[in-house]
Amino acid sequence: MKDIIKKIITYRETIKNKHLDLFKEIVFDKIDGDKIIKYPEIKMDKLFEILLDLKGTSLVEGLNIINSLLGTQELDGDVCEFGVAQGKTSKLIGYLIKNTQKKFYLYDSFEGLPKPSALDRLKDDIFDLKKIENYQGKMSHKQDEVISELNKIKFDMNNLIINKGFFFKENLSKFQFPKKITFAYLDFDFYQPTLDVLNTIDKILIKDGIIIVDDYDFFSTGVKTAVDSWHDLNKETFTVIKKKTTLSNFIIIRKN
Ligand SMILES: C[S@@+](CC[C@H](N)C(=O)[O-])C[C@H]1O[C@@H](n2cnc3c(N)ncnc32)[C@H](O)[C@@H]1O
Repeated sequence: MKDIIKKIITYRETIKNKHLDLFKEIVFDKIDGDKIIKYPEIKMDKLFEILLDLKGTSLVEGLNIINSLLGTQELDGDVCEFGVAQGKTSKLIGYLIKNTQKKFYLYDSFEGLPKPSALDRLKDDIFDLKKIENYQGKMSHKQDEVISELNKIKFDMNNLIINKGFFFKENLSKFQFPKKITFAYLDFDFYQPTLDVLNTIDKILIKDGIIIVDDYDFFSTGVKTAVDSWHDLNKETFTVIKKKTTLSNFIIIRKN
C-alpha cells in the first residue's frame, strides 16, 4: 500500500515538474534570443523566478518589459519607473540593467494613489471599493520594500535614485531626472500624473527609446484619456502598440 502511494506521489511530482519545464520553455521562447545571448550574466532561471514573483504586472507585460529593455540596453541613457509600490517590477527591471552603466530612477509617493481627477472614472473595480474616490491612499507601500527587493538581486545602490513624493507638474522641481531616458515603465494609474509624466519625459526619451504604460483602458479611464490626448499631439514622433491580455492592458510607446 505504502509503495502505491509513493508511486502516485512520484508520478504527480514528475507531471508537475514536466508542466513547469514546458511552461518555462514557452516563456523563454518569447524572450528575444538574439539579444539575451549578449548578456551571459542574465541567468534564465533567476529571470523566470522574478517573472513569477510579479504582482499586478502580468507575465505577458513582464516579457514585453524584458524585450523592451534588451532592445534599448545599448542605447545611451537611463531607466525610470513611475509608480513603484512594493517593487516587484523594479526587481525585474533592476535585474536586467544591474550589470550596465545605467542609473535606475524610481518615483513614488510611498503614500499610495493621489486624489483622482474628474477624468478618472472607475472602469474596473479591482479592490471592490465601489467609487474611484475610495482609491485615494490605496496601494501604499514603504520605500524599504523596494530597497529590499533590489537587495535580493544585489542591485548597486549607487545606481539607484529614489524620488519620493506626489508626481504632478507643479512639483517637478522636487524630482531628479536623467539627462536621457532609454526605457520607462509608467504605472501611476490615474489621468493627471500619467499625462504629466508623458509631457515631462517625451523630450528626454531618446530615439528608439520605449515607454510602457500600464493599465491603459483598465481600472480608471484616466490613463487611456491621458495617453490618447498626449499621443494626438505627438503622433509624428511616437508610435504606439496596444496590448490587451486576460490579465493586463498596456501600451508600448516608441520614439521614432
Ligand atoms: C499600480 S502601483 C505600481 C505598481 C508597480 N509598478 C509594480 O509593477 O509592482 C501604483 C503606484 O503609483 C504610486 N502613485 C500613483 N500616483 C502617484 C503620483 N502622482 N505620485 C507618486 N506616486 C504615485 C502609488 O503610490 C503606487 O505605489
